[in-house]
Amino acid sequence: MFQNIDITIKALAGEKYIASPDIATTVYLALKMEKPILVEGPAGVGKTELGKCVAGALDMNLIRLQCYEGLDESKALYEWEYAKQLLYTQILKEKLSSLMQKQDTLEEAVNRLSEEDDVFFSNKFLLPRPILSAITSSKRSVLLIDEIDKSDSEFEAFLLEVLSDFQVTIPEIGTIKARHKPFVILTSNNAREMSDALKRRCLHLYINYPTRSLEEEIVALKVPECGKKLAESIVRAVHKIRVLQLKKEPSISETLDWAKALVIMGHEELSHDVAVSTLNLILKYEKDIELAKKHSGEIFVH
Ligand SMILES: Nc1ncnc2c1ncn2[C@@H]1O[C@H](COP(=O)(O)OP(=O)(O)OP(=O)(O)O)[C@@H](O)[C@H]1O
Ligand SMILES: [Mg+2]
Repeated sequence: MFQNIDITIKALAGEKYIASPDIATTVYLALKMEKPILVEGPAGVGKTELGKCVAGALDMNLIRLQCYEGLDESKALYEWEYAKQLLYTQILKEKLSSLMQKQDTLEEAVNRLSEEDDVFFSNKFLLPRPILSAITSSKRSVLLIDEIDKSDSEFEAFLLEVLSDFQVTIPEIGTIKARHKPFVILTSNNAREMSDALKRRCLHLYINYPTRSLEEEIVALKVPECGKKLAESIVRAVHKIRVLQLKKEPSISETLDWAKALVIMGHEELSHDVAVSTLNLILKYEKDIELAKKHSGEIFVH
């Protein structure tokens, strides 16, 4: 557990994550208050990475649930291992038929067999999915529920239940209560608005593009071979590009890719011509590249 906000910043930096004071404060408070965090913000600003680095910094297991349209409880919570159940019934064929021998009618045989249900619907045949794994984990873990906005609202409703009680009921087995409440981090790209009920249960964190100095720190940490001068000119240019009316603004991932590419090309600073010829590394739409080229005189002056 982090003792204060400064320690939170340092511990995350140890995992190569540069946390702004807002990010560190929310993580620190969420841990103290035992509340989940709902992280929102544009693509590539470090939402997923935050979950991974918090787990690393706390030396906790990271359990990740990637959300998608159609994700349901069986993929998120648990499934019965049908193939294994079938295999066991095949192997135990003789044992089962000796059990059934005394039954005269089909109905009696079915009733007799159903008495053995417990064996086939027990922990041995239960396949835990991320949420059940996090709940039953012997150590406290970080449960990263990534891109929750991609799942359907039914799944969100199910999640609300889990986040309130940290217990799940499996009809054949009973109710399983968390041994250690996992630290839950949910991320969303705003593909759809999250419900108020979900927001109420979480501390909300909006991660926006970082300030220039934080982004320079990220480049220094992630692309150490990039010199200070080059890093500064890249970040300055990216910040100027972000204010243009673009279809897709360059994120931190793109800044890092640009830095890596310019290092590979052997550049020590960003000249106007080099910047214009490598814009495809940070802008993914032709229209955006055209717009940046149009403004290149203002963007790439030193
Ligand atoms: N604060 C940060 N410190 C260090 N690296 C960062 C930071 N923020 C982002 N990055 C880097 O930027 C890249 C993108 O981060 P990440 O995948 O977490 O973004 P995301 O917000 O989850 O994006 P998406 O919404 O597309 O999933 C990663 O390589 C990550 O290491
Ligand atoms: Mg992500």
